[in-house]
Amino acid sequence: MTTPANAPSLTHDSDELAADYDRVSATRQLLSGKRLVEDLAIRPGERVLDIGCGTGLLAEHIADLVGPTGHVLGIDPLPLRIELAKAKARANLAFQVGDAYDLSALPAGGFDVVVINAVFHWLPEKTAPLVGCARLLRSGGRIGISTGLKGNTTDLHRLMAESMAEPPFDRYPFTRKSVTFRVDAAEMRALFESTGFQPTLIEVRPTEQQHPSPEAAVRYSEASSFGNLFAHLPDALKPAAREAMARRLAVINSSQGIVQHGQRLVAIATRR
Ligand SMILES: C[S@@+](CC[C@H](N)C(=O)[O-])C[C@H]1O[C@@H](n2cnc3c(N)ncnc32)[C@H](O)[C@@H]1O
Repeated sequence: MTTPANAPSLTHDSDELAADYDRVSATRQLLSGKRLVEDLAIRPGERVLDIGCGTGLLAEHIADLVGPTGHVLGIDPLPLRIELAKAKARANLAFQVGDAYDLSALPAGGFDVVVINAVFHWLPEKTAPLVGCARLLRSGGRIGISTGLKGNTTDLHRLMAESMAEPPFDRYPFTRKSVTFRVDAAEMRALFESTGFQPTLIEVRPTEQQHPSPEAAVRYSEASSFGNLFAHLPDALKPAAREAMARRLAVINSSQGIVQHGQRLVAIATRR
């Protein structure tokens, strides 16, 4: 299947954003990923596919869990992030450029577990990737997804959108695609059931995000969205946009920095 036309752009990443992501995700996405992997009860010897592995921090952790008799493959469509991930490769851990919309090169039934952490909300169309995952998993294999929850809008999201509604940025429509493609628990269940999976856990969980400063919050969003936060703007406007957004976020800054409470969706299912 080809990538849907409304998918986030994969052309706005940079060495700097990839390196930032490797650093900042260690205290955010990696933690939710570790919890997901705990829920999946990954065992020594298992073969695991990490889809949208980013710079490979979670895959590295999973490689420790499966040990020398298991194997982890991380795939991600961003070559710069895969380059950073490859520095973490070892005998039971490999990385390659790959896309959730084209899993055809991977072996049918070749995995015991598929992990999709902080990625699912970037996929505008969910059925084809899940059907692809079902093909890759052996019967009884597990899939684990931790993702943004539909309807979970924090003050941070609201203020970011407000800053882009100010002139001169309002001349360019602000579309934060990560919000657009979120699902709720009922949608997640229906998606699993229609793609060959039996859900075993679908749960909304609380999240806490902490950023040391408004500027750090903007930087985090840019790195996590692989440059899509400001992709709707001409390059010349981006520095001013960063400043305007940070100014808006100053209202929720405190002595602890910016602390935001939200929710995410965790979903685990078994391949029928
Ligand atoms: C917030 S990062 C999460 C990275 C990693 N899973 C982690 O836990 O740190 C989102 C990742 O989704 C990846 N992504 C976006 N579209 C994708 C697609 N179509 N297929 C696979 N991965 C995709 C991006 O390249 C990016 O690395």
